[in-house]
Amino acid sequence: SERTLILVKPDGVRRGVVGEVISRIERKGLKLVALELQNLARETAEAHYAEHADKPFFGELVEFITGGPLVALVAEGPNAIKAFRQLAGATNPVEAVPGSIRGDFALEIGENIVHGSDSPESAEREIKIFFPELG
Ligand code: GTP
Ligand code: MG
Repeated sequence: SERTLILVKPDGVRRGVVGEVISRIERKGLKLVALELQNLARETAEAHYAEHADKPFFGELVEFITGGPLVALVAEGPNAIKAFRQLAGATNPVEAVPGSIRGDFALEIGENIVHGSDSPESAEREIKIFFPELG
């Protein structure tokens, strides 16, 4: 079994699709092991997105992710990381197929509703950032 860090980003909270996203995670068969509404400090956001620090959109990304409350959760199950990334769909909502979260609820890459860890190493690092008590 595997764990993944999932965020319903501020656009998802604003749009009122938190329940919908959690419902899809549950329907898939993943188990919720932590769940919290959080307001990210700038430093936390910069740490979470450290791999993108050199990208031209980094400032915009940090502004966006700190711009309102988000829902952080940890889900667990066989192949949880890949399973959730499939549910989320392609990073750019224009490429994401209908039926995926981004395909159904988003239009623009900068506001694509959810985040999911992309590897076991990322998951471990990100879970520590959002839920230090889980180790
Ligand atoms: P996450 O699950 O959020 O990490 O998305 P991802 O793994 O599918 O994509 P990636 O890690 O490459 O990019 C992280 C986030 O940066 C994306 O989810 C987008 O919200 C944002 N992003 C990526 N490219 C662009 C861009 O060109 N412009 C803007 N504004 N945001 C971008
Ligand atoms: Mg990513």
